[in-house]
Amino acid sequence: MTEATLGGRLTFAGTSLTVRRIGYGAMQLAGPGVWGPPKSPDTAVAVLREAVAAGVNHIDTSDYYGPHITNQLIRCALHPYPADLVIVTKLGARRPADQSWQPAVSRAELVSGVHDNLRNLRLEALDVVNYRSMGSGHGPEEGSIAEQVGALVDLKAKGLIRHIGLSNVTSAQVAEARALTDVACVQNLYNLAHREDEALVEALARQHIPYVPFFPLGGFTPLQSATLSSVGEELSATPLQVALAWLLRRPNMLLIPGTSSPVHLRENLAAGTLELSPRQLARLDGIAASSGASD
Ligand SMILES: NC(=O)c1ccc[n+]([C@@H]2O[C@H](COP(=O)([O-])OP(=O)(O)OC[C@H]3O[C@@H](n4cnc5c(N)ncnc54)[C@H](OP(=O)(O)O)[C@@H]3O)[C@@H](O)[C@H]2O)c1
Repeated sequence: MTEATLGGRLTFAGTSLTVRRIGYGAMQLAGPGVWGPPKSPDTAVAVLREAVAAGVNHIDTSDYYGPHITNQLIRCALHPYPADLVIVTKLGARRPADQSWQPAVSRAELVSGVHDNLRNLRLEALDVVNYRSMGSGHGPEEGSIAEQVGALVDLKAKGLIRHIGLSNVTSAQVAEARALTDVACVQNLYNLAHREDEALVEALARQHIPYVPFFPLGGFTPLQSATLSSVGEELSATPLQVALAWLLRRPNMLLIPGTSSPVHLRENLAAGTLELSPRQLARLDGIAASSGASD
């Protein structure tokens, strides 16, 4: 893979951290339900090593994946880390023993979350930390995030965090955070079937802030669509490669598709070589904004 085939490069806003636009999301490396160890830790380590060997230098994670497991796999596979590798993590949730996802947004929880990440990744400082607002379901919810962003600003002043990002946030919350600190990136739910953030993507592009779609392939229920399949056939590509190529046409997007499979990893990285014609783009743009099978 080359820089061009991995979608070119993009720099996190207000930083000197430049990464290839196709990165890797590590959430799928933990066990079922993002809980406990995977069936094959060796395969998880192999996926991470192959991604980095292929040129991926942006990995998205969180210490609450597993919990702890995903970060420990990243450390086991890649530490000492390549100089150009940017590991982006997130805070704002915790996983109690019932395996649910609960908010962890007090100052004490955010501080201990940073230390969990530092310990399990074996780092002295975290490159980028996203404050992940819980909201309702997978979507954001209005409300002030100033207290939490303020806590991260303090951790940045202490040198434990280099840059601050946001996840699962509204435009108003981005504006509120930008009044307190530089925002390196925004990570929200967005894919061919979920385009509620269209205006936010455009606004962030104007502000030169990368947008990092989570669930770029549809998440736990990967996207299925007759249009995706038909465009894939025309390009001799898989439907999900087409879904990634469609995202890459937006210049401020950084992709973090997640997979636990070496074969899927190779397919996802190869999506950067696909060229969609204006007609194919228009057909993909026409896929209805609903989740799952949509046409
Ligand atoms: N900020 C947030 O709140 C938040 C929320 C969710 C996720 N994230 C981040 O975003 C990253 C991406 O999201 P995600 O991993 O949940 O979802 P995703 O990338 O949309 O999709 C992952 C799913 O697609 C499958 N898959 C991947 N590549 C495939 C391929 N080429 N062909 C067929 N199936 C394929 C995976 O299964 P296999 O393992 O079998 O390939 C998995 O079931 C995560 O890893 C995480 O780092 C952030």
